[in-house]
Amino acid sequence: MTGDSLTLSQQISTPESSDFLTDVIAGLSSNPRALPCKYFYDERGAALFQKICDLPEYYITRTEIDILDRNRADIASHLGPDIELIGLGTGAGTKTRILIEALERPAVYIPVDISEKQLRESTVLFRKIFPDLEILPVCADYLQPVVLPSSSRKATRNIVYFPGSTIGNFESTEALEFLRRIANFSCRGGGLLIGVDLKKDQRVLEAAYNDSADVTAQFNLNLLERVNRELAADFDLDQWRHLAIYNSSAGRIEMHLISEIDQFVHLDEQKFHIRRGEKIITEFSYKYAPEEFAALAGKAGFEFVRMWSDDARLFGVLYFTCSRDR
Ligand code: AVI
Repeated sequence: MTGDSLTLSQQISTPESSDFLTDVIAGLSSNPRALPCKYFYDERGAALFQKICDLPEYYITRTEIDILDRNRADIASHLGPDIELIGLGTGAGTKTRILIEALERPAVYIPVDISEKQLRESTVLFRKIFPDLEILPVCADYLQPVVLPSSSRKATRNIVYFPGSTIGNFESTEALEFLRRIANFSCRGGGLLIGVDLKKDQRVLEAAYNDSADVTAQFNLNLLERVNRELAADFDLDQWRHLAIYNSSAGRIEMHLISEIDQFVHLDEQKFHIRRGEKIITEFSYKYAPEEFAALAGKAGFEFVRMWSDDARLFGVLYFTCSRDR
């Protein structure tokens, strides 16, 4: 697929429709109740997440961008010339643009993203800015096995780029399984460049997920609104409250929705009795010490090369190579 003979919408393949209802029923029936965080990102959720990224308390996005910006030449020299860059969940592409601008003659860019709109817009933009780069967009849920298109160009190595500390939203067994899967993309001399949120003061972490403008609360509650809208449930949004706490023994932020009253929720002919004070877990966001993450990636076949960070060591951009065979 070269991208010249097809329109952009023909080039972007869309994922299978997900089993939202099954996942929500299973999550509301479990103990403790939990909803998968991947469902945050409907159109409103994606817009709210963009707002979160600009919040003063949410240091993650601006710190990662700053790290990339200040170290772009060094990062690019580690990645090397003529590479195939596989971007997972790269969204609007702000960070990837900084990276590609610094790379020496990048050959191919394969952005993989679930949001068709963002993928389409960033592909149009990137084709304009980087006319010599072959761009092969894939609209897919990268949590599932993804088949990547093959390029007509010869690249020296494949580098997977996974920014945003999204790896933190996986439980450790899922994270390991995911890293093993992406090691297949970068095996035999390729690499992995990954953004990881680092362990830090609990107050800094909790402020980032309980912002004073309540944007994260809206983002969290939007999940219930989505369940109401798409699955005809009857969550009363006024009777739920957002709370994020740092669980220091597990090393993760836990996002909860807490029921303000004893209540019933109806969904698909089922009735859920939820008691006052009961929670629905909506997201875990794991924070790592650099050596913890390097050990995890090591189990998946990656060798740690180096980390770029900020002065306060809030965030790390880590580079690994992979010498494993497929
Ligand atoms: C996407 N992910 C890395 C975000 C995080 O920080 O775990 C999602 C998020 N949840 C609340 N605020 C941001």
